[in-house]
Amino acid sequence: MNILVTGGTGYIGSHACVALLEAGHDLIVVDNLYNSKIDTLEKMMRLTNKEITFYQVDLTNELAVDKIFSIHSIDGVIHFAGMKAVGESVEVPLTYYYNNIVSTMVLVKACLKYNVYRFVFSSSATVYGDNTVPFVETMDLLPTTNPYGETKAMSERILIDIAKANPTFSVSLLRYFNPVGAHESGLLGERPNGTLNNLMPYVTQAAKGVIKKLKVFGSDYPTVDGTGVRDYIHVMDLAGGHVAALNNIKKGVQIYNLGTGKGTSVLELIHAFEKENGIEVPFEFVNRRPGDIAICYADVSKANKELNWTAKRDIFAMCRDTWRFEQNLVK
Ligand code: NAD
Ligand code: UD1
Repeated sequence: MNILVTGGTGYIGSHACVALLEAGHDLIVVDNLYNSKIDTLEKMMRLTNKEITFYQVDLTNELAVDKIFSIHSIDGVIHFAGMKAVGESVEVPLTYYYNNIVSTMVLVKACLKYNVYRFVFSSSATVYGDNTVPFVETMDLLPTTNPYGETKAMSERILIDIAKANPTFSVSLLRYFNPVGAHESGLLGERPNGTLNNLMPYVTQAAKGVIKKLKVFGSDYPTVDGTGVRDYIHVMDLAGGHVAALNNIKKGVQIYNLGTGKGTSVLELIHAFEKENGIEVPFEFVNRRPGDIAICYADVSKANKELNWTAKRDIFAMCRDTWRFEQNLVK
């Protein structure tokens, strides 16, 4: 199929592009390069020996998006593009609501105009809020603690309403848990332009000595060792989830958790990283981070069954591939 991938030079999008190309799809990538680098495109092509059509376009630019749809015959859209820094979204909420919501609406408008009926959306486990684990797709969503999370919940609702009104529209809402790791080649990985947000990039910064110590947010959670528990998923497993979602897309709206179904604490992740890579990760305990929940992991039975997809790589592979990519960056 001809798939339009938004945010395809970003962290998850670039890994998914490799998986999609390997599965035989042709790709049109659209990204404004706000949080990614153009050389990622060449790396994806080198890894797969395939061509990619690329447009440096902002998805809030309706005319430019319309033009792309008018030029190409598109069979489906995977919409990764979005701003994702939780803390920043609290500082500049309008920027987040505008970018994430308007992009989604502009894209769907073009899909309906040009009869593109397959739409896969990058959502997040954040929409579950502080529900009881494991998180199941049928749960009522709870408010998130920040505008970023709200843009995900709102985008989901917008897509659900549009699918209701357009019975031929097929939407797959993919709720990612905690993507980490990098492509096994060491060529692709997470390379944000701005400040870091998530745990794994800070682990590598501490291991490299760029920061003195990793700050572990909270040691008094009701968990196995007092630190927060998350469902880390290897980005290449997540990438495979998109190929599966596209292959199995159905009319109406389908929601899938993409995770491993296993929880790992911050300390367990640090120790796995140290053991796998033979390097120390200096850390210190600090106060809890406002807005954090204690435990988050997925019930993945729906994606396992309906998409015939399972995350296969363990926490050690996630740590190994992350570190290989970081080592390559400094070479
Ligand atoms: P990323 O920042 O690496 O990639 C997003 C890409 O979208 C970037 O290349 C950026 O330049 C592009 N972009 C942003 N706004 C755009 C616009 N208006 N027009 C064109 N391009 C635009 O982020 P990622 O980690 O790859 O995340 C991809 C998606 O998955 C995002 O929607 C994110 O919210 C969601 N998600 C990510 C995580 C995570 O932990 N990484 C977890 C859950 C959900
Ligand atoms: C965060 C976002 C969430 C988003 C998800 C994936 C918040 C409140 N939530 O979730 O909306 O969907 O990323 O992008 O930011 N930790 C440390 N030290 C650090 C960084 C993190 O101890 O320097 C801990 C956290 O407290 C948490 C775990 O590591 O227990 C994972 O944190 P993180 O990678 O930021 O992901 P989430 O908190 O799950």
